[in-house]
Amino acid sequence: MNAPIWVLGAGAIGLFVGGRLAAAGADVHFIGRARLRDEIAQAGGLLLTDLEGPEHRLAALQWHEAAPPGVPGLVLLCVKSGATASALADLALPSGTPVLSLQNGVDNARLAQQAAPQARVLAGMVPFNVAHVGPGHWHRGSSGQLAAQEDAALQPWLALFERAALPLQLHRDMSAVQWAKLLLNLNNPVNALSGLPLRAQLLDADWRACTAALMAEALQVLRAAGIRPARLTPLPPGWLPALMRLPTPLFERLAARMLRIDAQARSSMADDLAAGRPTEIDALCGAVLRLAQAQGLQAPRQRLMVELLSAPRPQPLNAQALRQRLRA
Ligand SMILES: NC(=O)c1ccc[n+]([C@@H]2O[C@H](COP(=O)([O-])OP(=O)(O)OC[C@H]3O[C@@H](n4cnc5c(N)ncnc54)[C@H](OP(=O)(O)O)[C@@H]3O)[C@@H](O)[C@H]2O)c1
Repeated sequence: MNAPIWVLGAGAIGLFVGGRLAAAGADVHFIGRARLRDEIAQAGGLLLTDLEGPEHRLAALQWHEAAPPGVPGLVLLCVKSGATASALADLALPSGTPVLSLQNGVDNARLAQQAAPQARVLAGMVPFNVAHVGPGHWHRGSSGQLAAQEDAALQPWLALFERAALPLQLHRDMSAVQWAKLLLNLNNPVNALSGLPLRAQLLDADWRACTAALMAEALQVLRAAGIRPARLTPLPPGWLPALMRLPTPLFERLAARMLRIDAQARSSMADDLAAGRPTEIDALCGAVLRLAQAQGLQAPRQRLMVELLSAPRPQPLNAQALRQRLRA
């Protein structure tokens, strides 16, 4: 397949997935900010490293600050949720162009389809963590397989993703997969407020209790809405709050896979918060809150997190203080 791939939003996920596809021989065009283009150029190219795979170096990237010339065969949508509509509105995509959203949250594919009604937008899901760890250097700090909506438009691309060691696991019901990922992502705002790397935060029982409280509330809302999240972890999603509430030595044993993260990995929400950028809180806790409201329910814990993370200067909290506020 020689048609170009456009990566819309060349940040952590866009550079990692697009870079691996380019290293596997694809014609990849990155649409991103000049500051990252310059950083990568000054570092002598893009370096991608991996918790469990080989590293890749790409000396030169095809980089654009707006739509490249020509037409893409596939678009990978990799901007943060708040930028979905505006990023797509700036591209005049030909009718039927497949656009695979690799974003978190449950609404991005719908928002993207509204912004580009002529495109064929498909939901995807990235289970692993990618962090910007140095100049021109992005690192995958955890593992898992990419997921995507089963659709004929992706068939011609499957072999390329395999070659790049990023096989696409196809699903009929991506909504169940996305809600399951959202449940896990409820740890992100907790991680962001903790100021700790993910692994250290997950090894703290008080911080885990905060995440458990958010997960338990979200599971109640999903049950009321008749949504059954897919199973992405060794334990079923309904057991996640109990798992998070286990004493740390037991948690370490039972959640060994969840804890296979580099010691320095942080959630990208933590990076956004630290850099003073808007976070994706509305796409995570906000989505649960909206679903609750549609069922005539309250979701006060999600509401609290939306308020805390949307404040102009969110302050780091200690775990016990957050736990108490979530309980109240
Ligand atoms: N990082 C992870 O580990 C991870 C894992 C799973 C899923 N995800 C999801 O993947 C999505 C992307 O996350 P990320 O961490 O890769 O974000 P990111 O590093 O912030 O990358 C997004 C990039 O897109 C740029 N951008 C925004 N609008 C643009 C436009 N119109 N044209 C060109 N570039 C534009 C952003 O620039 P500005 O900052 O200037 O806006 C930013 O550089 C999110 O939904 C996230 O939740 C991330």
